[in-house]
Amino acid sequence: MHAHLHSFALIILLLSTFSVNSNATKGFSIDLVHRDSPLSPFYNSSMTHSERVQNAALRSMSRANRFGQSSSMAETSELVETDIIPNDADYLMKISVGTPPVERWAVADTGSDLIWFQCSPCPRCYPQKAKLFDPKSSSTYKSLSCRSNQCKSLPNDTVKGQSYPNCGTSNECMYFYSYDDRSYTIGELGIETLSFGQAASFPKRVFGCGHKNNLAFYQNTEGVVGLGQGPLSLVSQMGNVGRKFSYCLAPISQQQTTSTKLRFGEEATISGNEVVSTPLIPRSDSPTYYYLNLEGITVGQQTVPLTSQGNGNIVIDSGSTLTMLPTRFYKRVEALVRYAIGADQLIVENSYSKLCYTNANSIRNVPTFVVHFTGANLSLNRQNIFSFISEDVMCLAMLPTDGESSYGNVAHIDFEVEYDLDQKKASFAPVDCTKQYQ
Ligand SMILES: *[C@@H]1O[C@H](CO)[C@@H](O)[C@H](O)[C@H]1NC(C)=O
Ligand SMILES: *[C@@H]1O[C@H](CO)[C@@H](O)[C@H](O)[C@H]1NC(C)=O
Ligand SMILES: *[C@@H]1O[C@H](CO)[C@@H](O)[C@H](O)[C@H]1NC(C)=O
Repeated sequence: MHAHLHSFALIILLLSTFSVNSNATKGFSIDLVHRDSPLSPFYNSSMTHSERVQNAALRSMSRANRFGQSSSMAETSELVETDIIPNDADYLMKISVGTPPVERWAVADTGSDLIWFQCSPCPRCYPQKAKLFDPKSSSTYKSLSCRSNQCKSLPNDTVKGQSYPNCGTSNECMYFYSYDDRSYTIGELGIETLSFGQAASFPKRVFGCGHKNNLAFYQNTEGVVGLGQGPLSLVSQMGNVGRKFSYCLAPISQQQTTSTKLRFGEEATISGNEVVSTPLIPRSDSPTYYYLNLEGITVGQQTVPLTSQGNGNIVIDSGSTLTMLPTRFYKRVEALVRYAIGADQLIVENSYSKLCYTNANSIRNVPTFVVHFTGANLSLNRQNIFSFISEDVMCLAMLPTDGESSYGNVAHIDFEVEYDLDQKKASFAPVDCTKQYQ
């Protein structure tokens, strides 16, 4: 999910006014659960594997489209209009809010900043199974004034003639926060204790208490945790823990049975001689997203350079499944993969991938595939390049786009991926996430 944020001057939140609790931790880890895992509240046991893969592909396409331009796949534009598009959030996390703590399932979203939950009273909520969060039954809830800096750091927007943020009847900060798929939340900005079981507790953190919400989401997700770079995101509000997080995504076949970890602070640091790093490129036109610089891709012996470089030309996006590449560049990369594998097992009948192979386990000549980010060459495996859509059919996990390029989560599998906001770099190390991150 990507927030639709207008460019705004960076407003420095006074993080020093926050205090981490006394038994303060310098780092901690929580479970990150794939939406299709039986551990997830979204789990639908009657869905087949290929339906899951297909839905994930649709989510990636709709996400790329929502950057504002259309994907080159003609059918996509029709698909994104239908109700069957589930939310494009692939990973969920548990977070508690308030005192006593109320546990919530929330979408972990590197593509937005605001942390919010559905709150009562809720004249326009989407359905959720758990009881709504009631700020009145929390002893630590405080509403923020519309004159606070936190309120002013919200994106400015106008809905039905009403401009946001604005002052409510008691000068509380009324916010509107929207996402490009027309999902939104309207509510009151407040401060609360956010906690993660016994692992960590953060008093006085800014969050949105949503009273009118619409998510193009399945039921059961009770809010969103923004992990973007903006001042209101969870990472930006971590205080002493530091503005750093990492994850390691298990192979798709293992995601059914394994949850992996989302690590914060010192625990997020990845190490070893295989670690490579690339700069996070700041872009004032979208302060939320994590932009990297992609220089090219090598398939086998041949390197395809990417001409538009330098200003952050690709979003690293844990919330999107597939990697979306500029159309002309994609075509050259695809042609090299196609040539290396040969035509014997090629099938093209799938609507959501341009390059699929049958009897795929027998394919031995998957070419070496190296992604060149500035300063960081990543060597991808078969499981990063292809997704199995059934037992024996695999499809290229990449698509062309005329919108924004993104480096999706299939390509992250079995890499530790660290985002360090203070040092402005993303780091990667190839590991076995199933072993490493139990
Ligand atoms: C929104 O507009 C107000 C008034 O023009 C301005 O002070 C504030 O900085 C703007 N907020 C952002 C995030 O751009
Ligand atoms: C679960 O998946 C099946 C098969 O695709 C579908 O018919 C059904 O509507 C889904 N149920 C929910 C609650 O989404
Ligand atoms: C990445 O690969 C390219 C092409 O093989 C090479 O020229 C470059 O030195 C490598 N960069 C790093 C940081 O290893």
